[in-house]
Amino acid sequence: MKPLVVANWKMHKTPADAVRFVHELLALRPDPEQADAVICPPFVALSAVGDALGDVPIGLGAQQMHWADSGAFTGQISPPMLVACRVRWVIIGHSECRAYSGETDASVNRKVGAALAHGLTPIIAVGETLEEHAAGAAHDRVVAQIRAAFAGYTPAEVARSVVAYEPIWAIGTGKVDTPPGADATMGAIRAAVDGLQSVRILYGGSVKPDNIAAFVRQQHIGGALVGGASLEPVSFAALIGNAGKGVAA
Ligand code: PGA
Repeated sequence: MKPLVVANWKMHKTPADAVRFVHELLALRPDPEQADAVICPPFVALSAVGDALGDVPIGLGAQQMHWADSGAFTGQISPPMLVACRVRWVIIGHSECRAYSGETDASVNRKVGAALAHGLTPIIAVGETLEEHAAGAAHDRVVAQIRAAFAGYTPAEVARSVVAYEPIWAIGTGKVDTPPGADATMGAIRAAVDGLQSVRILYGGSVKPDNIAAFVRQQHIGGALVGGASLEPVSFAALIGNAGKGVAA
């Protein structure tokens, strides 16, 4: 399957910065045959990025959302609001949301259903801490997270999702899991829930243009969720091109 490269910009770029990025990226002519690409800007830049992308086959994603359609939830953004901004993808359960914004396995589960109900593809992020990793508990941790995320959903619904395995200790640290190590954990994820057998599972955590191919080459790794290295157009274009080389190798 064609790899998927998702840019998670986190709290970076104003709408003007984001539009400049899109123009510079498109000038580099990233090859859509190499990989599917999705950009997840901050909420306030979604519309501007959607306009700048126009008909270019690069997806637009959100980094977070609420599960309710509307209501008294100050500061929150709903699935229909995202759809109205032409968003088609949404990251759910990022470790930074779990750590700083009260995201739990239970809220992730509700958001997965809300995303699917509104035609959004959820990118469900799971990952273990350094302590869990050192204790040999990574597989148990991520399997528990992924079962909780999909509890109550049919295999057909599960199959409409994407999973991102991001060891927390690898995010923004420059440390990466070994490609075979990440692949083994992703194999455990794939086996944990009916319906995950055919979905793309992304690796995340300090992915760069020079290491993405080694990850994508692994059996269970269908692309990458990229933070820091997705912020520059040249780097993001290289991630797209090199992800394709991983598949071709
Ligand atoms: P990073 O972030 O690529 O900067 O490590 C990845 C992520 O948090 O999704």
